[in-house]
Amino acid sequence: MKVLIINGSPHPKGNTKLALDEMVKIFDQEGIESEIVHVGNKDVRGCIACMSCKTKLDHCVFDDIVNETAKKFEECDGLVVGTPVYYGSANSTLISFLTRLFYSTSFDKTMKVGASAVIARRGGISATYDELNKFFAISGMPIASSQYWNSIHGREQGEVLQDEEGLQTMRVLARNMSFLMKCIHDGKEKYGLPEKEEFHRTNFIR
Ligand SMILES: Cc1cc2nc3c(=O)[nH]c(=O)nc-3n(C[C@H](O)[C@H](O)[C@H](O)COP(=O)(O)O)c2cc1C
Repeated sequence: MKVLIINGSPHPKGNTKLALDEMVKIFDQEGIESEIVHVGNKDVRGCIACMSCKTKLDHCVFDDIVNETAKKFEECDGLVVGTPVYYGSANSTLISFLTRLFYSTSFDKTMKVGASAVIARRGGISATYDELNKFFAISGMPIASSQYWNSIHGREQGEVLQDEEGLQTMRVLARNMSFLMKCIHDGKEKYGLPEKEEFHRTNFIR
């Protein structure tokens, strides 16, 4: 079983990485393989709605870290997305990445477990948490939760290590996520994935 972890911070050794490392410790204990992909320090442009991914390519027209990560996303059982809060939102580089990753890939994401981890000095955590969870919820991905909304506080590099409750929240999240992934793995063998219906897009007017 494998978890793909996206670090949306531009600092590969910053607070977001430290929070994600706290989760990795638990994944190791649970026998779940994990890999961190650093996205926040990359040059990732936004979606231009060219629709090439839908009409001819089945991947993004911009051949960068999005397409590199798509294969890893397809193969993983769970996806963790971590971000620092910037102006009450996730890092915009991460949002460009997630928008293109989720939109350009057609493989079935149903029952891959999603979890978000949000890092901030002080404010904007809940809004950012909601923002990230929306990518999972529109994709048939169950969302793992913790003892609190998945957040941890710190400003300068390393300060999150002083947030005892935040660290515990990350550990509990990883434990709950591991449990969910194992249950879904067994459930898939026993029951298979839920039946799919053809998607009816009505755009509200027709
Ligand atoms: C451009 C920018 C905007 C920020 N906006 C917020 C904010 O809205 N709320 C907050 O609590 N912290 C804000 N911060 C602080 C970061 O979220 C915080 O320092 C975080 O620990 C950085 O994580 P990192 O070390 O992984 O990059 C901001 C930082 C930057 C650089």
